[in-house]
Amino acid sequence: MRAEDFRRIKEFVAEQFGLVLDEGRESFLAQKLVPRLTELRLTSFADYYAYLKYSPHSDEEQQQFISLLTNNETYFFREDAQLDVLAREILPALKEKKLKEGKRTLRIVSAGCSSGEEVYTLAMILLESGHFLWDWDIAITGVDIDARIIARADLGIYSGRAFQTTPPHFIERYFNKAAEGLQVKDSLRKITSFARGNLLQLGNMLPAESADIIFCRNVLIYFSEETTRQMVASFAKILKPEGLLFLGHSESLARISTQYVPTRFPGAIIYRKRD
Ligand SMILES: C[S@@+](CC[C@H](N)C(=O)[O-])C[C@H]1O[C@@H](n2cnc3c(N)ncnc32)[C@H](O)[C@@H]1O
Repeated sequence: MRAEDFRRIKEFVAEQFGLVLDEGRESFLAQKLVPRLTELRLTSFADYYAYLKYSPHSDEEQQQFISLLTNNETYFFREDAQLDVLAREILPALKEKKLKEGKRTLRIVSAGCSSGEEVYTLAMILLESGHFLWDWDIAITGVDIDARIIARADLGIYSGRAFQTTPPHFIERYFNKAAEGLQVKDSLRKITSFARGNLLQLGNMLPAESADIIFCRNVLIYFSEETTRQMVASFAKILKPEGLLFLGHSESLARISTQYVPTRFPGAIIYRKRD
C-alpha cells in the first residue's frame, strides 16, 4: 500500500468514524482490504478508496469496510469488578433515589455494544437484582456502528467463548437451547434493543438527559484523544444529571474531560456527570 493511499484512507476513517489508524499500520490495513478488493475486482487501493467514497454503493461499502476494521471482541460478564459495583452499590442507590423522586424509569445505554453480550449481561444483572420489577419501565439500548454485528445482537444466539465467564445459573435462567447455540429468552428481549449508529452522532440519536447510565467499555481505546473528548462530551449531554459513565478498566478520562467526577470503588472507577 502506497503511503498516499494509507494517508487518504486513514483520514477518511478518522473523519467518518472517529477511529484512529496508527502510523505504520499499512500492512494491517492492506491485509484486511485485499480480499475485499478481490471480491470487487479492483486492482489498487486508490481504486478502492474512490469506490468507498464516491461510488453509488459507497454507503453499503462503508458498512463492509467498518466491519473489516473494527475489533468486536466481547463476552458475557466481561470485567466483573465493575459489574459487581453496579449490582451491589449503584442499582440499590439508584432505586432509592428514583423512588424518592417518584420516578420508575431506568435507561441504560451500551455504546459500542458489539454483538450484544454487554447489553444482555446488564439485562440479566438488572433482573437478578430484583430492584426494578413490576411497574418499572426499564430499557437497555445497545448502539454499534457495525450493521452486521447489530444483526447478530438482535438474533441473540451465542456459543463457546461468549460464555467464558458466565456463571452457570445465568445460562440456565436466561437462555434457551437453539440449533446453533443458546438463544436469549424473552425476559431479556423485552427490556433490550439495538440500533446501528456512530457514537460520534449519539447526541442526535438519543434525547438529551435521558440516560441514567452509559457503558462505553473497550471502545475509546481505538479513538484519538480529540475524538474521545468529543464522544464523552456527547455522553454528558445524553446523561441525566449525576448520570454514570462506565469505561473499560484500561480507559480513563484523566486529562480528557472535567465534566465527570471519578468515583473509586473496589476494582473499578466510575465517572459521575458533574452537576
Ligand atoms: C471491542 S468491542 C467492545 C464491546 C463491549 N463494549 C465490551 O466491552 O465487551 C468495540 C465495539 O465498538 C464499536 N465501535 C467502534 N467505533 C465505533 C463508532 N464510531 N460508533 C459506534 N460503535 C463503534 C465496534 O464496532 C465494536 O463492536
